[in-house]
Amino acid sequence: MSHPRGRIVLLVAVVASFAGMAGARRSPAGDTRQPLPMSHKRHITKDMKCRACHQGVEGEAMASFPTLADCMDCHKTPQGKEPAEPEVRAFVARGQDLTWVRLNRLAGHVYFSHAAHVTLASMKCEECHRDMKAVDQAPTEPDIHAQMSDCVACHRSKHASLDCLACHK
Ligand code: HEC
Ligand code: HEC
Ligand code: HEC
Ligand code: HEC
Ligand code: HEC
Repeated sequence: MSHPRGRIVLLVAVVASFAGMAGARRSPAGDTRQPLPMSHKRHITKDMKCRACHQGVEGEAMASFPTLADCMDCHKTPQGKEPAEPEVRAFVARGQDLTWVRLNRLAGHVYFSHAAHVTLASMKCEECHRDMKAVDQAPTEPDIHAQMSDCVACHRSKHASLDCLACHK
C-alpha cells in the first residue's frame, strides 16, 4: 500500500463510499441550538481576538471552541445587562459544562488545517468565514460550503499543494 498509485486507488474508493453517505454527512442546518446564546459582535474587541476563544486556530488543524472556564475569566462577576449573561454562572452553579455544536464540517474524507492557512499562509478568518464582528446571534448554519474546486482554485493560484493526499485521508 506504500506505492502512491495504490494509495490513490484506495483514496478514491474511500471517498466514493463517503460520498454515498451524502445525506448523513452534512452538517445540521437551520434550527441548531447552542447551549447558551452568545453574541460574537459584543465579544470581539481590541483586547479579545478570535484566538482567545478559538485557541487551536494558529497551531492546530482544529480552531476549537472555548470552555466554560475560559468564559469565567470574565463572567465570575456580572458583565453588562443582557438577560442571557447570568446564564454563564448558572451553568457553573448546576455543575454543567458547555458543549458547543460545531456547524462547519467537511466530508469525513477531507483533511483541513487551520494552522496551514492562518499561520503558514497568513490568511485572515474572513477570507473563508463571514465577518463574525457583525454577528449578533449564535449562528445556526455553516458559513462555509466548500467544494473541492474552491480549495483547488486557490491552491493553484498560490502554488500550494495539489496532491490528492494532502487533502484526503
Ligand atoms: C468570547 C469567545 C469568542 C470569541 C472572541 C470568538 N468566538 Fe467564534 N465562537 C465562540 C463560540 C462559543 C462559538 C460556538 C457557539 C456560537 O456559535 O455562538 C463560536 C463559533 C464560531 C464559528 C462557527 C464555527 C462552527 O463551524 O460551528 C465561527 C466561524 C467563529 N466562531 C469564528 C470566529 C472569528 C472569526 C472570531 C474573531 C473575529 C471569533 N469567532 C471570536 C466563541 C468566540
Ligand atoms: C474578556 C472578557 C470576557 C470573556 C472571556 C467572555 N465574556 Fe461574555 N461578556 C463580556 C462582557 C464585557 C459582556 C457585556 C457586553 C455587552 O453587554 O455589550 C459580556 C456579555 C455576555 C453575554 C450577554 C450578551 C451576549 O453576548 O449575548 C453572554 C451570554 C456572554 N457574555 C457569554 C459568554 C460566554 C459563553 C463566554 C465564553 C465562551 C464569554 N461570554 C466570555 C466579557 C467576556
Ligand atoms: C482557508 C479557509 C479558512 C480560514 C482562513 C479559516 N477557516 Fe475556520 N474553517 C474552515 C473550514 C473549511 C472549516 C471546517 C473544517 C473541517 O470540517 O475540518 C472551518 C471550521 C472552523 C471552526 C469550527 C470548529 C473547528 O475547529 O473546525 C471554527 C471555530 C473556525 N473555523 C474558526 C476560524 C477562525 C477564528 C479563523 C481565523 C483565525 C479561521 N477559522 C480561519 C476554513 C477556514
Ligand atoms: C484562498 C486560498 C486557499 C483556500 C480557499 C484553501 N487553501 Fe489550503 N492552503 C492555501 C495555501 C497558500 C497553503 C500553503 C500554506 C503553506 O504551507 O505555506 C495551503 C495549505 C493547505 C494544506 C496543507 C498542505 C500541505 O502541504 O501539507 C491543506 C491540507 C489544505 N491547504 C487544505 C485545504 C482545503 C481542504 C481547502 C478547502 C476547504 C483549502 N485548503 C482552501 C490556500 C488556500
Ligand atoms: C486542496 C484540497 C483538495 C485537493 C488537493 C484534492 N481534493 Fe478532492 N475534495 C476536496 C474537498 C474539500 C472535497 C469536497 C468535500 C465535501 O463535499 O465536503 C473533495 C471531494 C472529492 C471527491 C468526492 C466527489 C466530489 O467532487 O465532491 C473525490 C472523489 C475527490 N475529492 C478526489 C480527489 C482526487 C483524486 C484528488 C487529486 C487529483 C483530489 N481530490 C485533490 C479537497 C481536495
